[in-house]
Amino acid sequence: MFVSNESLPPGSANWVKYCKKLEKSLVLRTKQLTRANQELAERIAVSEAVCMENQRLEEALLQAQEKYRSIFENAVEGIFQTTPEGCYLSANPTLARIYGYESPKALLEKLTDIECQLYVEPERRQQFIEQLRSQDSVSEFESQVYRQDGSIIWISESARAVRDSLGNLLYYEGFVTDVTKRKQSEASLRKSQMQFKKQAEELQLALQKLQQTQSQLLQTEKMSSLGQLVAGIAHEINNPVNFMCGNLLHARQYAEDLLELFQLYAKHYPQPVPEIQAAAEAIDLDFIIKDFPQTLSSMQIGADRVHQIVQSLRNFSRIDEAQTKPVDIHQGIDSTLLILHNRLKARGTYPTIAVLKEYGDLPLVECYASLLNQVFMNLLSNAIDALEQEIEKEDKGAENSSQLSSLSQIPNSQGPIPTIRIRTDTIRNDWVVISIIDNGPGMSDEVVRKIFEPFFTTKPIGKGTGLGLSISHQIIVEKHGGTLRCISAPQQGTKFVIEIPLRASATKSGVSWG
Ligand SMILES: Nc1ncnc2c1ncn2[C@@H]1O[C@H](COP(=O)(O)OP(=O)(O)O)[C@@H](O)[C@H]1O
Ligand SMILES: [Mg+2]
Repeated sequence: MFVSNESLPPGSANWVKYCKKLEKSLVLRTKQLTRANQELAERIAVSEAVCMENQRLEEALLQAQEKYRSIFENAVEGIFQTTPEGCYLSANPTLARIYGYESPKALLEKLTDIECQLYVEPERRQQFIEQLRSQDSVSEFESQVYRQDGSIIWISESARAVRDSLGNLLYYEGFVTDVTKRKQSEASLRKSQMQFKKQAEELQLALQKLQQTQSQLLQTEKMSSLGQLVAGIAHEINNPVNFMCGNLLHARQYAEDLLELFQLYAKHYPQPVPEIQAAAEAIDLDFIIKDFPQTLSSMQIGADRVHQIVQSLRNFSRIDEAQTKPVDIHQGIDSTLLILHNRLKARGTYPTIAVLKEYGDLPLVECYASLLNQVFMNLLSNAIDALEQEIEKEDKGAENSSQLSSLSQIPNSQGPIPTIRIRTDTIRNDWVVISIIDNGPGMSDEVVRKIFEPFFTTKPIGKGTGLGLSISHQIIVEKHGGTLRCISAPQQGTKFVIEIPLRASATKSGVSWG
């Protein structure tokens, strides 16, 4: 409202002034109001924009929730949220399906104690929790769990611990995959791998066994050929020797008769004609008369010895005996010793090897005689080898010490007499025990453990085949149902102990011994 001077009564100058002032303040106020109005309009616009933004955000939130729900509902993995105490907070349909429940709701209702109801080994749950506690997450944690119907499946879990802003544990959440098929294929793969490995090992063993058998057969074949040769020679010599022995008796008788007759001639014709006298002197008749019976005697001794050797050779080879027979064990040992006689007597730098026989009172033993003789041969040859080795070592030592002694006057040392002791006895009434003991260098534990392995030898190439003891072991254990043991220590000599039943009872029939 405007106030003009014309409308005011005279003398009211103050009034006019007042009115002008009022007008001025009115204009100011109007301006203020207009500005406030503008501001209000601006604010309304802003709040409308905020409102729209909120609406947009709400829609986006809804969309996101929808998206995540869809993922949760349709995921191929089982998804869960659980309390640290072992209850489900949520589970998706896949988890329900994996665990065999009709719906997540059913799972949540029925599966209320995860540790006891779910895990086949409840301690797996504790380990799972322990890992989550210490590392806040686990990945591909595999366990066996029960489905609702009681069947067992393998699952793999990956999970994390969810905490509030203060770090307090709220719950666990994660994924579950059914890995039963993979586990099954892994198990069957492992099984077939094991089977393959086992088969490969069996094949390897079979191959080894085959190689051993082949070599042992070869060795046995050799021994058998040798046996046949020995038996053949023994047989061939036997006839002429018997023939000689038999005829030597007659020859001796004839010689005695002839000498008696000659003495009768001498008695009745003390003075023979000069021609006879000359001839008697030429042949040294007196010496002949004295020496002839002695010559015949030593021929008899020689022939008897050949006869004895032939008997021993036949005895040793016994190739005609494929079956067990009652045998005099001592005779077998003696025949073997006789064949080894040359190695036992002193020769060159080797002294005589003493053989001490401590034979017990043995009955006849039913066994494979030629095979058993092979064992005696192997054990006695080994003992002789060992003693010779010791002698060679001592000789070397003596050489060194004699060189030394010539320098420093140290006397030579003399070792004990190389000796092989053979003991026989019966035990438990129906077993025989034969021990072959030498005072040679003995063996270390490591060597003792290997001696019965085929091809194990400590002897130089050409001297040892490493088959003697493995064949002997087979002969004693498999052919006779007995045992062959070795007791030995370095510098303590060696003892081999054979134990066989009086009646052979072969347990296995590994190698055919022909
Ligand atoms: N009486 C023994 N004294 C010391 N070592 C022995 C004796 N008998 C056997 N051995 C050891 O056992 C090994 C295996 O013997 P063996 O199977 O007969 O094979 P080889 O005599 O061909 O070496 C020998 O090389 C030797 O090391
Ligand atoms: Mg040997």
